[in-house]
Amino acid sequence: MIGETARMIAIDRSRIAELFARERERFAEAHPRSRELHERAEGSLLSGVPMNWMTRWPGAFPVFFESASGAEVTDVDGKVYADLCLGDTGAMTGHSPPPTVAAVQDRVAKGITAMLPTPDAAEVGEEMQRRFGLRDWQFTLSATDANRFVVRIARQITGRPKILVHNHCYHGSVDETVTTLVDGRVLSREGNVGPPVDPAETTRVVEINDLEALERELAHGDVACVLVEPALTNIGIVLAEDGYHEGLRRLTRDAGTLLVIDETHTLCCGPGGYTRAQGLEPDVLTIGKPIGGGVPVGAYGFTEKVADRIAKATIWETADVGGVGGTLAGNALSLAAVRATLSEVLTDEAFERMTALGERFESAVAETIAEHGLPWSVTRLGCRAEYMFQATPPRTGGEAAAALDPELDALLHLYMLNRGILLTPFHMMALMSPATTEAHVDRHSEAFREAAGELAGG
Ligand SMILES: Cc1ncc(COP(=O)(O)O)c(C=O)c1O
Repeated sequence: MIGETARMIAIDRSRIAELFARERERFAEAHPRSRELHERAEGSLLSGVPMNWMTRWPGAFPVFFESASGAEVTDVDGKVYADLCLGDTGAMTGHSPPPTVAAVQDRVAKGITAMLPTPDAAEVGEEMQRRFGLRDWQFTLSATDANRFVVRIARQITGRPKILVHNHCYHGSVDETVTTLVDGRVLSREGNVGPPVDPAETTRVVEINDLEALERELAHGDVACVLVEPALTNIGIVLAEDGYHEGLRRLTRDAGTLLVIDETHTLCCGPGGYTRAQGLEPDVLTIGKPIGGGVPVGAYGFTEKVADRIAKATIWETADVGGVGGTLAGNALSLAAVRATLSEVLTDEAFERMTALGERFESAVAETIAEHGLPWSVTRLGCRAEYMFQATPPRTGGEAAAALDPELDALLHLYMLNRGILLTPFHMMALMSPATTEAHVDRHSEAFREAAGELAGG
């Protein structure tokens, strides 16, 4: 972070546009095969991609990739990238980690899904218990599903209708969470596709770090659960201030509201996520993305007390009917992937190295920001780091959203792509995997320095 008294420059907007035009041309020239594949795919896929957000990379067309291994991706034009995006955390393990690949290959040949558990089930449950401190676990196909199911369970066991989330949260495509706070009013978030009901009817929203608002909103007595990331990671990184988690735990307990911590991204804080690193005591924990090493899987775990309440509220004869489930959820393949990934890839030792790389990334970026007097800051959360276009790190999701700069964001993503670096699209986030090396981080540091120099007019 750059000090308040440091010299700061204003970035010339026409310079951003000029550099962007140059980089776009360079990108198009360097990726003829990706262009070809995209043009062909436009004939059969909406926007020429299997999922429409894949168009949100900043070139005129997306890069198509041929292979990915460890911390590197090779595209169809033969270009190799240092991957700091890592599938927006789905590949935080590095791509195709060998122990996960071996376990998956073995399982694939022995039955993928059968509506029955395998010997991996208990082993995985015990490991989740050991890491996160919660007793009972269930598995889904994604983190979105884990959150969706937990919200429904919370409503059922508390008999309350609403949930509460942080402003500018992201918990997947869960209806109740696609909302935002505007001038104190809960609104459907821009981009919310076909909401079944107005989120103001289902959801209360407060800023992270605002315990006063949290107390006020919980006082209505209608909130089944608070569903939060322990630090925001989807609108840039916004850290919880000292005392926030203690207050959150106390207020939710006092209100009889379940506290659900979503560790899908904050697993970057260590083997047991932020929860273990900071000694949090959630009633329920949700997670997904990296625990399967890239194989789709999500999970939710809860305390013994919550398990008892669930058992009392469950009619076993109809447990497969309403709102929680999925035929392929908990399938043998995903459980095999989780077992291998947790026991052999996302180990304590791996996290130590990944965090050190996160620190290396952070200090290089901070140095360049200070050197050029840029009005930016950098924030780190374990092995994840993010730079933001404001001089002091944001305290709330609202502040972080106000600092977004889509043009600068697009330029820097493209600048990095053209220099062999993938950064998470949508914001300036970098993640380290067990396969990431200092050389990968330094490739970014050099490109960032070059970009900063060009933007500062140096
Ligand atoms: C904190 C958090 N929770 C849940 C999700 C949903 O994950 P998925 O899209 O894999 O279901 C995301 C996705 O970015 C996330 O960031």
